[in-house]
Amino acid sequence: MNSSFLLFKNDDHKFIHLGLERLNIEGIFTNQYLIIHKNEGFLIDPGGAHVFSRVFSNVSKYIDLRNIKGVFFSHQDPDVAAGLSLWDIHLPNAKYFFSKLWDRFMPHYGVYSKYKVSLIEDYGGKYYFEDGAELQFIPAHFLHSSGNFTLYDPTSKVLFSGDIGVGVIQPSLKKLFVEDFNEYKKEMEWFHKRYMVSNKIINMWISKVENFDVEIMAPQHGLLFRKKEFIEFLNWFKKLECGEDIIEKIYYNREG
Ligand SMILES: [Fe+2]
Ligand SMILES: [Fe+2]
Repeated sequence: MNSSFLLFKNDDHKFIHLGLERLNIEGIFTNQYLIIHKNEGFLIDPGGAHVFSRVFSNVSKYIDLRNIKGVFFSHQDPDVAAGLSLWDIHLPNAKYFFSKLWDRFMPHYGVYSKYKVSLIEDYGGKYYFEDGAELQFIPAHFLHSSGNFTLYDPTSKVLFSGDIGVGVIQPSLKKLFVEDFNEYKKEMEWFHKRYMVSNKIINMWISKVENFDVEIMAPQHGLLFRKKEFIEFLNWFKKLECGEDIIEKIYYNREG
């Protein structure tokens, strides 16, 4: 259950899924990812305290932790960042990248050193590896967090989508990718309707990512999407009414 999956690999660059959770764990199942470019590591949404031992052990198989130079937090939620103080002990050379909105909140996870934090402006930004290769922080505010980013890796063509594209289902060794989008959307619908703010906001994010060359969309929960299913997802998502669009139904229990 603890094995990692290589989603992309060439001579200089790897994009790694950091393994699956045990069946008896409580809480929503989460995906964690590691990018290694040459000898430089970059962690993505490393997760809460209860997944730390598995993620730590899988990361350590690939890279000396002193060579992890960046950790990205798509937003402030505990399933994304509650393990921060545990990671901080082992990552002396890492900077933590997250929205400037969470500057005064993340210290509550136990990390106080400002020099290790790199705040992302609302319009997004980039992370540069030592040789100039880049990762792009793409604004995804209010999908669902108010200070929220997705991450595009142009080398691997993987789009890390955070809580966008989430299905409430546990990936398995046999099933890591969406195979039948029409079936899978049943696992996604409620989450997106209730946790996302509005159709207008959805389409702002889509306008940012729809022209990217995406081989894999990798969310923080549930199954991953290959190119075909990613396009099917965008077509479904761009029409979805959610949050503000359906707020009366939510408030007055009129959900059919
Ligand atoms: Fe979240
Ligand atoms: Fe999440």
